[in-house]
Amino acid sequence: MAALPTAVKIVEVGPRDGLQNEKEFVPTAVKIELIDRLSKAGFPNVEAASFVSPKWVPQMADGAEVMAGIARREGAIYSVLTPNMRGLEGALAARADEIVIFGAASEAFSQRNINCSIAESIERFVPVAEAAKAAGVRIRGSVSCSFGCPYQGEVPVASVVDVVQRFAALGCDEIDIADTIGVGTAKRVHEVFEAVTKVFPRERLSGHFHDTYGQALANIYAALEEGIAIFHASVAGLGGCPYAKGATGNVATEDVLYLMNGLGIHTGVDLDQVVEAGDFISKAIGRANASRAGKALLAKKQSAAECA
Ligand code: HMG
Ligand code: MG
Repeated sequence: MAALPTAVKIVEVGPRDGLQNEKEFVPTAVKIELIDRLSKAGFPNVEAASFVSPKWVPQMADGAEVMAGIARREGAIYSVLTPNMRGLEGALAARADEIVIFGAASEAFSQRNINCSIAESIERFVPVAEAAKAAGVRIRGSVSCSFGCPYQGEVPVASVVDVVQRFAALGCDEIDIADTIGVGTAKRVHEVFEAVTKVFPRERLSGHFHDTYGQALANIYAALEEGIAIFHASVAGLGGCPYAKGATGNVATEDVLYLMNGLGIHTGVDLDQVVEAGDFISKAIGRANASRAGKALLAKKQSAAECA
């Protein structure tokens, strides 16, 4: 078996993917404090906001204020979602380091999430990608429903490969293979990554796993075995997609860091500080912390404090 990567990049998506589905508006100051805590913890990349229609995702309406308020750590990349030119303009004005164009490997999900077909979405992304390149901003493409779709069910591997190729042609620096509803299992992860690495460089592919069926850590391990070295995770396991009913949050960042630390894989991120950030945001939005490692480490710390 091939050796696992010795270092991985963890992209913290909690401030965007984690919070976008919250019904109650999370105050801008809370979003900013969360991002600042994550920056201090050492993440090389934080997905900070979306410049999407506030009618579609009201929670992300304050993206400009969030981006203006955060204390950026030098060298870190702050990414934002941009579905169209209007979003791109907002992203450039906000000095985003990376824009995320997001499509799907499933026609039904594309319609529900961005109100157009896959082909139309690619056409819409052409000027967005051109303008981002002209402005010297990185471009990431996210392929939703790469392991299954809440509306269509099965998604052929060939559909994932097709969208990856289209994103590659747009000049994406990085492409996310996303399990939007967390249905993938390790065997499928091997199959999908074996196929997409034939059309796009392995080192610029990422795994974006939601943990709905409890498979995310196993899927990450399978992706590591495929040589994938970029993973998305959400602090305290926050999240769910507003256009994927029943989908729960991304894999919890604390759990991923615990796994990487155990494997001796370098992340550059301080687990203790992420645990504190997870506790902060869970309390701020009144949600139970969904990270197993986060809860265990908080309990350990509390009992150590009681014994002292
Ligand atoms: P539409 O209704 O077809 O487009 O939506 P429209 O051009 O008719 O715009 C509708 C209204 O939104 C208009 O306002 C526009 O001005 C406004 P009105 O005239 O009615 O007052 N609008 C905007 N406002 C601010 N910023 C913008 C913008 N664009 C239009 N950029 C559209 C099409 C793509 C805009 C819409 O469907 C949309 O915003 N969708 C975003 C959905 C979304 O954010 N989903 C969650 C993120 S994706 C995700 O979570 C998956 C991921 O995590 C990977 C995975 O897990 O799978 C990435
Ligand atoms: Mg997602």
